[in-house]
Amino acid sequence: MSIKPLIILPDPILRQVSKPVERVDGDLRKLADDMLETMYDAPGIGLAAIQVGEPRRLLVIDLAKEDEPPAPHVFINPEILESSEQRSVYEEGCLSIPDYYAEVERPAAVRVKYLDRDGKLQEMQAEGLMATCLQHEIDHLNGVLFIDHISKLKRDMVVKKFKKLAKDKAPGKMVG
Ligand code: NI
Repeated sequence: MSIKPLIILPDPILRQVSKPVERVDGDLRKLADDMLETMYDAPGIGLAAIQVGEPRRLLVIDLAKEDEPPAPHVFINPEILESSEQRSVYEEGCLSIPDYYAEVERPAAVRVKYLDRDGKLQEMQAEGLMATCLQHEIDHLNGVLFIDHISKLKRDMVVKKFKKLAKDKAPGKMVG
């Protein structure tokens, strides 16, 4: 397994729409394992393949707390079948937008179908943090970021800040 570099805002890769996975094979499982390792290292609770530069409809989630054994989930070609009327608010963050958090309102529960790590069709009725996390990650597969769900004013401020950070880090720039 290996840790992959994370794609950070405002990299346009994050706006790509990911393509469906056609075959669940060893290569795909290796990518999923690398994504899990990258996510644990960050640390984070969810990661979409596009965040490591792979425009494929694949995401990983692990909501286990620090004192609990790992509970990795791999979702391939996930699709939301149903969203609840009831909504909930979570403070969200994103490994592609480090150190920025904002409250986002989303459906409180979703039913999702997906292929698991073995390519088997599964369905999950998710609530709470899992529902929010799945929606956040599935958004990534469609080129959508959680800052798209906050006010334009706040979003513009975040994007501006990250554009400046990227510029300051650009190669060829001397940093003493
Ligand atoms: Ni994210």
